[in-house]
Amino acid sequence: MESEINFMDAIDLLEWQLELGVTETIGNQEVNRYLEVKPKSEKITKDNVTSSAKQVTPEPTLVASSMASAANSLDDLVQAISSFEYCDLKKGARNLVFSDGSPCAKVMIIGEVPDLEEDMVGKPFVGAAGQLLDKMFNAIGYGRSLSDTALYLTNVVPWRTPQNRSLTDDEMEVLKPFLVRHIQLVQPKFLIVMGNTPIQILLNESRITKLRGTWKTFSGIPTLPMLHPSYLLRNPSAKKETWEDLKMLKVRLGEDL
Ligand code: URA
Repeated sequence: MESEINFMDAIDLLEWQLELGVTETIGNQEVNRYLEVKPKSEKITKDNVTSSAKQVTPEPTLVASSMASAANSLDDLVQAISSFEYCDLKKGARNLVFSDGSPCAKVMIIGEVPDLEEDMVGKPFVGAAGQLLDKMFNAIGYGRSLSDTALYLTNVVPWRTPQNRSLTDDEMEVLKPFLVRHIQLVQPKFLIVMGNTPIQILLNESRITKLRGTWKTFSGIPTLPMLHPSYLLRNPSAKKETWEDLKMLKVRLGEDL
């Protein structure tokens, strides 16, 4: 029998779900997991004990390294990442968020983690942070829509995290070979690393607010750490520091003709 629920109770229930962390609805009907039929667990016999003991679990970072180094093009790399089965983030994501912009660009931007908007569209930096990023780079004449040789964008990981949580050290370690191979295949003239996550993975540094505006080198490529646009949305007063970094980048780009 269907139960009647009044409007105020329905609002209370929705608020309660939000407090519990629900961000998306998947269906109109609730699912009672307690009533689901679980597959019967396999009986342990002498035979299946020895056969499962023989299975060696591959080391995920080694698998990622060997898949990444076998990729000889960006298409190969997308295929490799799509078929990589040792990162659970993939299971919770709608899309693989690989890149946007032109791989012939002089500047490659490495962001952090796709948000909900990026997960829905399958492209990096399409939400509010991406719109600010576009304004920043348009202002120095290097917006992604302004020219084919301006910007190429990606993130340290291609899948969003549940509830937008930070990456774990294990996730960073496992997915790093794909990021490094991505940079090797694009071979940009300049790298921009935005936020704490890419500076940790690529430069082994931890405080973007201290490091921003200081040129570094990653794998022979001049690399500029900058504040992440999401940080700038939360801390608008830091935009003036970012403007200084953008002007500095423009000078370097002008010298590299
Ligand atoms: N933040 C990022 O770092 N990357 C995105 O693609 C979107 C938000």
